[in-house]
Amino acid sequence: METVLSGIRPTGNLHLGNYYGAVQSFVKMQNEYNCYFFIADWHSLTTHPKPEDIQKSARTILAEYIACGIDPEKATIYIQSDVHETLELYLYLNMNCYLGELERVTTFKEKARKQPENVNAGLLTYPTLMAADILQHRAAKVPVGKDQEQNMEMARKCARRFNYIYGVDFFPEPQNFYFGDNAIKVPGLDGSGKMGKSEGNCIYLFEDEKTIRKKVMKAVTDSGPTEPNSEKPEVIKNLFTLMEIASTKDTYDYFDEKWNDCSIRYGDMKKQLAEDIVKTIAPIRERIIEISSDEARLDRIARLGAEKARESAAKTLNEVRKIIGFRPY
Ligand code: TRP
Repeated sequence: METVLSGIRPTGNLHLGNYYGAVQSFVKMQNEYNCYFFIADWHSLTTHPKPEDIQKSARTILAEYIACGIDPEKATIYIQSDVHETLELYLYLNMNCYLGELERVTTFKEKARKQPENVNAGLLTYPTLMAADILQHRAAKVPVGKDQEQNMEMARKCARRFNYIYGVDFFPEPQNFYFGDNAIKVPGLDGSGKMGKSEGNCIYLFEDEKTIRKKVMKAVTDSGPTEPNSEKPEVIKNLFTLMEIASTKDTYDYFDEKWNDCSIRYGDMKKQLAEDIVKTIAPIRERIIEISSDEARLDRIARLGAEKARESAAKTLNEVRKIIGFRPY
């Protein structure tokens, strides 16, 4: 069975974009692959050296993942900082990564521009830590967005270079995993193309029905079509895309027809969309509340995940130590 790995930084709560764009696919993937889903709390130190309550942030995502249907018995779900084997691999990989190539990574340049007072070495070696996350499980596939492509290229370079330097065929080159037809880009409610927490246009999975309705009713629209069968402007297209994702085909077709014959009432459409989103989120929200309230259970889940992840990482590191010439564990 192929190994798939995905990491998420614990900066906030999961929203509809995360859910439809990734987490829903993870829930399916856990039946077909050997899955590792982890919370990259070390990575968040590159931008937030003094995190507010890093354990709570990690627990929040953990609970939300579980509430969405990720099963800790099927997949290995863990918190990065629980697996210190990663750091040893991070060190070895750093020895074979070069300043020039790390400096050329766009995300590094962007972050360096954003925080000129804190261009730290962790920020520079962010891709190496990410490579260690992936390679410690010898993962074959990594579901990532476009913004992570350069980091993935670095991870492949790390794998190739290690194999070349030590004359082995040990690390597979991890491939970007595209969800294929299931790749869903969830638009924002503000008419922009993408729902994202930095855009401030999200519906969060923990939000109650009233909040969701209010947010959807406020979604940006225009003054309506004036000619039959005209092309939809961007904001309206986005609203329809949301409906395509959250509602049934019949509902979508109904409003599409209304658009085409110019009788559409956005208020009605948004009301329907809100109900359909509520239908998806309400049960997830209930589970989030239930799971978050059970500290002991979350603890057990985190510990189980850490155990499984450490076992896999230690196996890899043991080989790595032998390959380089150190005494095995
Ligand atoms: N860099 C990823 C992001 O910002 C998070 C991440 C860290 C990750 N390590 C990873 C993703 C390993 C995939 C694999 O989204």
